[in-house]
Amino acid sequence: MCGIFGYIGHQQALGLLVEGLRRLEYRGYDSTGVALLNDGEISYHRTVGKVGNLQSILPANVPGSQGIAHTRWATHGGVTLENTHPHRSFDGKVTLVHNGIIENYRALSKSLIARGIEMVGETDSEVLVHSIALELAKGVSPETSVRRTLKRVRGTWGLCVMFLEHDLLICARNGSPLIIGTGNGEMFISSDPHPLTSHTQQVVYLEDGDLAVVTKDSLKLSSLQGGSQEANISTLDEDWGESDLGDAPHFMLKEIYEQPDALRQCISGRIDREMGSGRLGGMQLQHNTLIQVPHVRLLGCGTAAIAAEIGQMLIERMARIPAVTHIASEYRNNDPVINPKALYLAVSQSGETADTIAAVKEIKLKGGQVFGVVNVVGSSIARLCGQGVYIHSGPEQSVASTKAFTNMVGALTIFAMQLGRTRHLSKDQGRELIQELQQVPHLMESYLENVGPIDEAVELVSSASSVLYLGRGLSAPVAKEGALKLMELAYIPCLAYPAGEMKHGPMALLEEGSPVVVVAPNDHLKEKTLSAIHECKARGAKIILIHEQGDEIAEEAHVSIPVPKVHPLLTPLLTVLPLQLMAYRTAVLLGKDVDRPRNLAKSVTVE
Ligand code: M6R
Repeated sequence: MCGIFGYIGHQQALGLLVEGLRRLEYRGYDSTGVALLNDGEISYHRTVGKVGNLQSILPANVPGSQGIAHTRWATHGGVTLENTHPHRSFDGKVTLVHNGIIENYRALSKSLIARGIEMVGETDSEVLVHSIALELAKGVSPETSVRRTLKRVRGTWGLCVMFLEHDLLICARNGSPLIIGTGNGEMFISSDPHPLTSHTQQVVYLEDGDLAVVTKDSLKLSSLQGGSQEANISTLDEDWGESDLGDAPHFMLKEIYEQPDALRQCISGRIDREMGSGRLGGMQLQHNTLIQVPHVRLLGCGTAAIAAEIGQMLIERMARIPAVTHIASEYRNNDPVINPKALYLAVSQSGETADTIAAVKEIKLKGGQVFGVVNVVGSSIARLCGQGVYIHSGPEQSVASTKAFTNMVGALTIFAMQLGRTRHLSKDQGRELIQELQQVPHLMESYLENVGPIDEAVELVSSASSVLYLGRGLSAPVAKEGALKLMELAYIPCLAYPAGEMKHGPMALLEEGSPVVVVAPNDHLKEKTLSAIHECKARGAKIILIHEQGDEIAEEAHVSIPVPKVHPLLTPLLTVLPLQLMAYRTAVLLGKDVDRPRNLAKSVTVE
């Protein structure tokens, strides 16, 4: 994780760096810092905490038209000032910011200490800055000093290095994203494209193994091994939409309320009403290929994996093709068997999740074809897959994923429909589904206008020592998503189980007053879920029930939260909304940092 921003050009750098950091803060917010080069001196400003904390310690004016900045998510070493980037070399001649993990840092650090160099902090990144400075002291160029250092390193890096005596920045990438925006007599470096859009549309995405020498008006690209290569300039043409908070108190609440429009974006132009099918151009799949698909595998982490589980069920139901979801962080370590005829879907909001990227690489290495289901245009997964579907949620800035979840489910629904129509789904069934799917944004709006007694549910869960979430079929992953949201935002331990599994163990947790959240839309499994509700109530549990409007199951609830009626295959798009709100309001009530929950970051770019 961590966010990097850099600038070299003709403007005063400080404001640009701080604004860049502010846009990248979602990537980590343990500590933050900037370094600026001016008149043969480098000034450093660092602090524990967020960009706001940095702003409060910055002098009004720090001159310099070249600088690097970093917002940290701690991996190696605690959250301390010493471990805050930018790091400075023992001789003050090299400064760097790093995103990634240096696996052999212990060995490198020992050899530096043996040469009399004192390690100031505990980060793995610090070994890089001293090693580069040692090489530089041998009289080689900055480029050679970085290249020689990186050749000795095992691990991942997105790196931006500044030199006291050279008017350039050196960037390198291996596993952690880095993008260079080219302007007129100025260059910008960023961990993701969004902070660049207000400065330039022309960008170069560094690939793994790339090393770039950047001056204010040139960019020289080479591989780590030394061969020079051409820089492919891409144009940022995606309208990334509004990313400011506006009047909302938190990004999460704003994003929850953006879901109807986001889903409209995701659906728009992607359905064929006449044929009752999906039309996902970016998948580049011919009907005769789809007919032969033996199975589908979906991969993701966290919320993306949960959306994938819903996609898996929809694919099996609509297309009758075996589908399985894998947690990406486990997948590649299990030496998976890859069938080149199967379809692999990598699901990720950021498109930068290291575990998902590693799984994609493993599949590709073994001859499998992987499609991205991604939000961020031009992200690593999107480019690695080269084919797939953008979910078009717009920027999601809150660490807790909300609108990306519903759009992942939306995109996977359309994909399942497209696959289904080549097999078992009739035209009429397809048309019915399309009609209902197009209604979902309206239904979401109508729910969000009147969300029901969420505060009563919040009262129950906010004082609980743990919360159990139950659901069946498509509602089992929804229950999981609700539990994940409450855990990550309110730090309350939550368990999510398919309702039938509850009596095989988790029920032992229940005692008088234990809150149990049950997701029970009016589908073919409702009656079975009802049995689980009775079993919980018999043990004194208080039931918070998410159900369809007008359904008599409401009588079973202590807190009944109705959502609009919808096609049974589309219920997750509605039942998840009260769970998101419940987690949000609980976190607010408990005084937690909703958009930046402790220990987390939006984009998990380390394994
Ligand atoms: O960017 P990705 O969708 O690949 O991220 C995957 C997870 O890290 C992410 O969904 C995480 O679980 C969220 N914080 C959940 O709200």
